[in-house]
Amino acid sequence: MRLKEFRSHYEPLIQQELLDQIAALPIPASLKESMNYSLQAGGKRIRPILMLAAMHELGGNHPDALKVAAAIEMIHTYSLIHDDLPSMDDDDLRRGMPTNHKVFGEAVAILAGDALLTYSFGLIARLPNVSNDDKVQLIDLMSTASGAEGMVGGQILDIEGEEKKLALEELEQVHRLKTGALLTFSILAGAILAEAKPDTILSLSRFGEHLGLAFQIQDDILDVTGTSEELGKTAGKDENSDKSTYPGILTLPRAKEKLDHHAQEALQSIEGLDGEMALLKELTAMIVQRKN
Ligand code: IPE
Ligand code: IPE
Ligand code: MG
Ligand code: MG
Ligand code: MG
Repeated sequence: MRLKEFRSHYEPLIQQELLDQIAALPIPASLKESMNYSLQAGGKRIRPILMLAAMHELGGNHPDALKVAAAIEMIHTYSLIHDDLPSMDDDDLRRGMPTNHKVFGEAVAILAGDALLTYSFGLIARLPNVSNDDKVQLIDLMSTASGAEGMVGGQILDIEGEEKKLALEELEQVHRLKTGALLTFSILAGAILAEAKPDTILSLSRFGEHLGLAFQIQDDILDVTGTSEELGKTAGKDENSDKSTYPGILTLPRAKEKLDHHAQEALQSIEGLDGEMALLKELTAMIVQRKN
């Protein structure tokens, strides 16, 4: 199946799964509204799509796949709500809408993020058709990818990297952690649901690491070259807040070379796998070419 069709098929299903998960919760109305606001604001759903694409390319079609996809998107959405807070990147616009704290206030935004993060782990723990062993493995990997050893660790290095010039290797580590870790987890979760063999998992893990770097390098590039309208978030923000970024350290043309390099390495990593991996190849191209 081509990526375009794959995305048009799955995006509404992901959207519905997110809605259904939150709708049934007996929780305070303001919290529910704030969680739904950011989940429903849109976004590319690239992590759920990567998870589903990896599973699909490995011949899997797990009945709980959409629940896992929703859990990943909840963690990602929480990370954006907190990333935009005044004490972090202080952004007013996200996914083409005012940021969560602008609408609901900081306290509710922080708590909505906390709630999405926490809920996502419960969602995995309650998957009806996954063995306990696989659930423990998913929870373990998801916790490492999103916590202090992964995204949260990267976010603190990112904040500490403001107003000082990081070496390229240091910045690469920030990108691996703040963005690469959750992206890689998404791919591995798909592989686990498809019961992939260990050597396949290893190749996909390498694929995810390069793809994650490419994704964040492109995010840095788009912050310079894109408009707020295209991005759905305020363009030019990184330079204004003295962030260390690939274009900032390397110049724009050399950042683009790095982007291409990691995309090529990503493709190389899945070259030897059984099956065509067409969706993963198309996703790699999409990440290089994307405008938002
Ligand atoms: C933005 O992620 C934050 C990064 C990790 C670069 P996305 O570009 O996937 O944001 P949405 O989900 O499409 O809004
Ligand atoms: C965000 O990086 C990474 C996260 C874990 C949320 P950025 O701060 O560059 O993401 P944007 O540009 O605000 O989406
Ligand atoms: Mg940030
Ligand atoms: Mg930000
Ligand atoms: Mg950015």
